[in-house]
Amino acid sequence: MNGRILVAYATRAGSTAGVAGAVTEVLRDAGYDTDLSLLNSDLMPEHYDAVILGGPIYMGAMREVEEYVRAHHAALESRFKAAFAVGMSFVEDDEEKRALARAALSKAISPFEPAHLGYFAGKTDPAKLSFLQKVALKVVSSPIGDFRDYEAIKAWALEVAGDLGGSHPA
Ligand SMILES: Cc1cc2nc3c(=O)[nH]c(=O)nc-3n(C[C@H](O)[C@H](O)[C@H](O)COP(=O)(O)O)c2cc1C
Repeated sequence: MNGRILVAYATRAGSTAGVAGAVTEVLRDAGYDTDLSLLNSDLMPEHYDAVILGGPIYMGAMREVEEYVRAHHAALESRFKAAFAVGMSFVEDDEEKRALARAALSKAISPFEPAHLGYFAGKTDPAKLSFLQKVALKVVSSPIGDFRDYEAIKAWALEVAGDLGGSHPA
């Protein structure tokens, strides 16, 4: 065990990078040797002692995370410690929407059930949306703006850091 941690995230419009960056900062501050990377199939969990995966929800799914988990299933088995989802459903006070969004993360990482699951409000930037995407958001009356709550993200990351006991800081 050399205590290397991977924080790997997917993003389409950039906002999840901020969330993953904040998680990484907390882990580094806690003394962990932590790599931050965009999710891609060449990323090998085998090179790490602990893996944290995150991504955005689009149309009720977390496709990139799901594909990665499928492709690296065996290597993740002993290393997958935490996962997080970023979505606008976590902005609204609507339990039905939140439950659907939580289900998107569970489905994407199935059959894994890591001890730490984070659900974070994201950001929608009208300048980055196509006409059809704007229509889609309007149909589901999704809020527009940056709702990332860095205090909540860091509090979650601290909990994860506290639980990585096996992956001792270098
Ligand atoms: C077309 C579209 C569909 C979306 N669908 C969902 C959704 O089903 N559930 C949700 O919680 N958020 C949804 N969102 C919000 C995104 O998850 C949110 O904007 C997130 O911060 C995007 O992350 P990214 O900037 O890293 O791509 C959607 C956004 C767009 C533009």
